Amino acid sequence: MTINNSTAKKLKDDFPIFKNNKNLVYLDNAATTQKPKVVIEKIKEFYENSNANASRGIYSLAEKATEEYEKARKIAADFIDASSEEIIFTKNATDSINSIAYSLESAIPNGRDEILLTEMEHHSNLIPWQQLAKRKNMKLRFIKIKSDFTLDMEDAKSKITEKTAIVSFVHVSNALGTLNDAKAIANLAKTKNAFSIIDATQSVPHMKVDVKNIDCDFLVFSSHKMLGPAGIGILYGKKELLEKIPPFSFGGGMIKSVSYENAEFAELPEKFEAGTQNIADASALGEAIRYLEKIGIENISSWEKQLLGYALEKLKKMKGVEIYNPGIENSSGIISFNIKGIHPHDAASLFDSFGIAVRAGHHCCMPLMKKLGLQGTIRISFYLYNAFEDIDKLIEAIKKIKEKFGK
Ligand code: ALA
Repeated sequence: MTINNSTAKKLKDDFPIFKNNKNLVYLDNAATTQKPKVVIEKIKEFYENSNANASRGIYSLAEKATEEYEKARKIAADFIDASSEEIIFTKNATDSINSIAYSLESAIPNGRDEILLTEMEHHSNLIPWQQLAKRKNMKLRFIKIKSDFTLDMEDAKSKITEKTAIVSFVHVSNALGTLNDAKAIANLAKTKNAFSIIDATQSVPHMKVDVKNIDCDFLVFSSHKMLGPAGIGILYGKKELLEKIPPFSFGGGMIKSVSYENAEFAELPEKFEAGTQNIADASALGEAIRYLEKIGIENISSWEKQLLGYALEKLKKMKGVEIYNPGIENSSGIISFNIKGIHPHDAASLFDSFGIAVRAGHHCCMPLMKKLGLQGTIRISFYLYNAFEDIDKLIEAIKKIKEKFGK
């Protein structure tokens, strides 16, 4: 289904939040997205019809629950061109990165003591590696960003060496919208036998991401940023790697056999899923992906590009508005900006008074903000249900805010 301005507005009807908040202009989709009725109903339906513990009981209801859970895994796997055994359910992308940072610890070859990140990482793809570096006495290095807010690929080439153990990088920056060349960076890591990990939290919901084509080792994303419920996320890992590395969490459901002294772990993916899982939310994530697929992820990408172009053009024309975005070709549907002389938090409160939800602050990217010399930014981020009118209202609000501050 091709999305245009009128179909985008019509899509809002699928989302009860817009019915219950009539004048809401929701431009904070990078923080979390709204949920369509089918997703909300799926959670209820699961608890009303299929609730039992998955992968344990041998009675019919437990089999039904297991079926729902595994169906969701297959939907998520197909969405990124992986196989089901390569999909591990976690709490969210942050949990996925923390988990892999633990599991990789024992897989780092001697003599490799560098972890390479980028200067635009979210704290969730920074702090777990800082902690690993402290535990293993490793060095953190960072691929530089250029003044146009894109990554310096020459710097990437020079920093990925025989000393690099791990290259972990964001696909789309949550703070700047920059779309990084995931395939090229993963390939650089591969040529030096380093592990590649992609934070795809802001890309998987908005564009076709194919793990086979990118050829990365691991990739993470969160359900709540792609119309699904919070509390469920994905860790993708290449089968041969997941088979080799140890689990990061231990207990029930992840074993083949146990003695008082020892345990043999289950096959993939159970090996990495200790304890009772978030079955209802996994199945609702499956429903969210089905909804996205019905519309078509490419159609969503192309609509967001139009919104991005429209907003950038309008914002660029405004005096006193400073934009931190690498341009339409190099970014996804996120724009950070500031109104000169107005603190982003003050601006966000005023946007709220006009019914416009935006995020303001450091966006969990404190080191990046420091590097750019900013206290923070105002950030708008789009999804399939946003329309040109949402941007028009934002522009009108900026004019009023400027007037109020005499700017
Ligand atoms: N990572 C989310 C954001 O960028 C919370 O807003």
